[in-house]
Amino acid sequence: MRILGIETSCDETAASVIDISKNNNITLLSNVIASSLALHAKTGGIIPEIAARNQISHIIPVISEALEKAGISFKPPKMKSPDIDAIAVTYGPGLIGSLLVGVETAKTLSFAWNKQLIPVNHLYGHIYANFISNNSKIENRKSKPLEKIKFPAIALIVSGGHTDLILMKGHKETIWLGGTRDDAAGEAFDKCARLLGYNYPGGPKVAELAEKGNPKVFSLPRPMIGSHDFDFSFSGLKTAFANATKENFPVLRTSSDKVGWKQIILEQINESQKQILYDLCASLQDSITDVLVKKTLAAAEKFHTSSIIFGGGVSANQILRDKFQKELSTKHSGLNAKLFFPPKPLCVDNAAMIAAAAVFQGNETPWENVTADPELYFD
Ligand code: KG4
Ligand code: ZN
Repeated sequence: MRILGIETSCDETAASVIDISKNNNITLLSNVIASSLALHAKTGGIIPEIAARNQISHIIPVISEALEKAGISFKPPKMKSPDIDAIAVTYGPGLIGSLLVGVETAKTLSFAWNKQLIPVNHLYGHIYANFISNNSKIENRKSKPLEKIKFPAIALIVSGGHTDLILMKGHKETIWLGGTRDDAAGEAFDKCARLLGYNYPGGPKVAELAEKGNPKVFSLPRPMIGSHDFDFSFSGLKTAFANATKENFPVLRTSSDKVGWKQIILEQINESQKQILYDLCASLQDSITDVLVKKTLAAAEKFHTSSIIFGGGVSANQILRDKFQKELSTKHSGLNAKLFFPPKPLCVDNAAMIAAAAVFQGNETPWENVTADPELYFD
């Protein structure tokens, strides 16, 4: 069975084809992503209207390329029905204009090609990036057998818009345990990077600068790390980071610059200033990852879970991955839980994860009943 996945919740237009074997082993056949990110760099953030317009120009070429790369013949404009069994599409959460492009395209194709349509919650998509067993197309190496994810599991979704902990007793038996009360973890990375003048996505830039830094130099807060719930808060951390940055780089704010912040250009600062920048980034990363590790492992301990599953752009962060690994082999060695991180290209938004989620989570729905829902959350 083959599923065509379509994902357009934000600035990426993505399409992918997966193949599902009888015992639900998933092979990635293609994974195509077009992004309007470069356009948003000028404005320092994503402008929903621009993102939606770009979705419209990208959607058909991206779907067409995903089918072609999967070896499925598809010849627009004739739109002869391709050899797939179903179409999965993200119907929320996200930006309404962007979502509509994917949803309405998927509905049209479902009708025109007479294929099942499976609407998918983007947040579940991030979890199911872990269930694609054969990734040789993106990992550039032979596929490895996927270790089985056992339930109960804890899932941590950490992206630019979400920080959520979910208890999964089974594929369709999920309980939302908690989430962020203000900024998401990725948003904290992005906003702090912005303060240093770096554009979205800020997480990879902070991680890169942090490599040369000492995480213990700035003692930034670990908000809600000791609270007896599974909620998060990152806005106070952002303020603390802003104060520490402004103290060390007093001329950052500039009214003449349209973007509002001067970028700290590494080549233009001296060695000791560079070290401060690296230390700030390392301290920020240390603080965010400490909170994520502590809360997630507390949830895993409370619910005696066998697996801990990660998803979302921040789960690509290597320090986060290393910290979890270290904690499990030292302080939490009694936990007996396995960690599952998606391959890095599948941590960020993509359509393969949407198609995979459709296999385990999705419900086939008549196309007339599928509508975009920007506020969609966990059930
Ligand atoms: O999952 P995603 O592509 O989009 C959303 O659904 O939001 O995640 C994007 C987020 C951004 O906030 C970005 O800064 C963050 O993931 N991110 C990272 C890393 N790579 C991406 N944060 C920290 N370290 C990284 N290596
Ligand atoms: Zn996402």
